[in-house]
Amino acid sequence: MGNMQDKCAIFDLDGVLVDTAKYHYLAWKNLAEELGFEFTLQQNEALKGVSRMRSLELLLGFGGLSDRFSQEEKEGMAEKKNKLYVEKIMHLEKKELFAGVLDFFEYLKKKDIKIALGSASKNAPLILERLEITGYFDTIVDGTQVSKAKPDPEVFVRAARNLKISCENCIVFEDSEAGLQAAKKAGMKAIGIGNADNLPMADLVIGSVDQYIPYLR
Ligand code: BG6
Ligand code: MG
Repeated sequence: MGNMQDKCAIFDLDGVLVDTAKYHYLAWKNLAEELGFEFTLQQNEALKGVSRMRSLELLLGFGGLSDRFSQEEKEGMAEKKNKLYVEKIMHLEKKELFAGVLDFFEYLKKKDIKIALGSASKNAPLILERLEITGYFDTIVDGTQVSKAKPDPEVFVRAARNLKISCENCIVFEDSEAGLQAAKKAGMKAIGIGNADNLPMADLVIGSVDQYIPYLR
């Protein structure tokens, strides 16, 4: 087990290690269309990193349908979306891992930097299995283990605690605004993956995780 001096890299999953963000978007878009409204890619930015039920609330808000449905109806909708989503990710393949991920994992191992997952997704274990990367992680914290979703820092703090590493020695890799906020609140370094325009909270924005290697040297 680690000591407080150790370092840890904590990875969000969807949109950081693999482009499942596009499948989340397509599944929500499908639901929106059934409900009779358009759901745009720009609106989808607000759903990234956000829990399933909270995402549904935001989606209904975009469609002007907040407060229209019972809890039971909403649960049915979330379940339907998830079914569609799982159908898509069931066929994920290792080659869909983002470029540079495996190289970066190997680099971290070599440097003795711990590797953690900090994802809001309840489907995280299935995705890691499909991508054949479960074994790289020193700890996995997913949507089944947290009570407060991002932007609450719980998911990342829990990962650090599992490894007995202090928060200031953790670096979080995130593609969502909610996740970057969570990392900041935890007192961790927050690295954005993607487009800097969408991620003003980040300490640094890079295109893929392996672009962080020079910063670790
Ligand atoms: C996050 C995604 O990783 O997980 C969100 O960015 C998603 O889009 C959330 O809503 C919850 O995922 P799931 O798989 O439990 O519905
Ligand atoms: Mg994400």
